[in-house]
Amino acid sequence: MKQIIVAVDGYSSCGKSTIAKALAKYAGYTYVDTGAMYRATALYAQRAGLAGKLEEVVPILNNILIGFIHTAEGQHVTLNGEDVEAYIRTLEIGNLASQISTIKEVRSFLVAQQQAMGEKKGIVMDGRDIGTVVFPNAELKLFLTASPEVRAERRFKELQAKGESPIFEDVLRDTNDRDYRDTHRAESPLCQAEDAVVVDNSEMTREEQMAKIIEIFDRATR
Ligand code: DC
Repeated sequence: MKQIIVAVDGYSSCGKSTIAKALAKYAGYTYVDTGAMYRATALYAQRAGLAGKLEEVVPILNNILIGFIHTAEGQHVTLNGEDVEAYIRTLEIGNLASQISTIKEVRSFLVAQQQAMGEKKGIVMDGRDIGTVVFPNAELKLFLTASPEVRAERRFKELQAKGESPIFEDVLRDTNDRDYRDTHRAESPLCQAEDAVVVDNSEMTREEQMAKIIEIFDRATR
């Protein structure tokens, strides 16, 4: 099969990672969750006591080594060799990641690593700027979207499943705030690449969505 780069962008909690992971499995490609890289960087900053002054992470970016490992539960992100998957999926780290991702130097630091991962192609990478900044020449660009209410509902259930006790209104407000920050930041705001295929999954089951995406992928690799 032809080896290509698949860029998957979209709003938070629209199922990007589930779809990107499933597509990578179908294609036998490597999956890279770039949100996890921003989250791991945010965790580093938080642990360094920089939560209220995130820009101070810039001079120490070279102390941060991010990697991915395969575990029985799937791919996990590592921070300086430690598996930090269990710490990065909270609302707090999500918010810090959204804030830290507005810093230009943080983005260049992570984008360079992401570009290196795509050199051999055969990759599905998800994030916010993959089809626009990281791989503007990706052979296939998908832009996933769903209504804020549907996304907040999904995140609410995910947090509950993790044992947290979220309040739906907080999760919805947080989803809207994050959308605003992700689309309005000066550096690489989330936007749809002109040549991206848009998939709105508000009314689709995961199976329907997957079938559609596999059809698009098969067409692109034929
Ligand atoms: O996809 P996620 O929720 O794990 O991402 C966490 C934050 O990281 C999100 O608010 C925006 C940021 N991000 C980004 O700016 N660029 C990316 N390629 C991926 C994530």
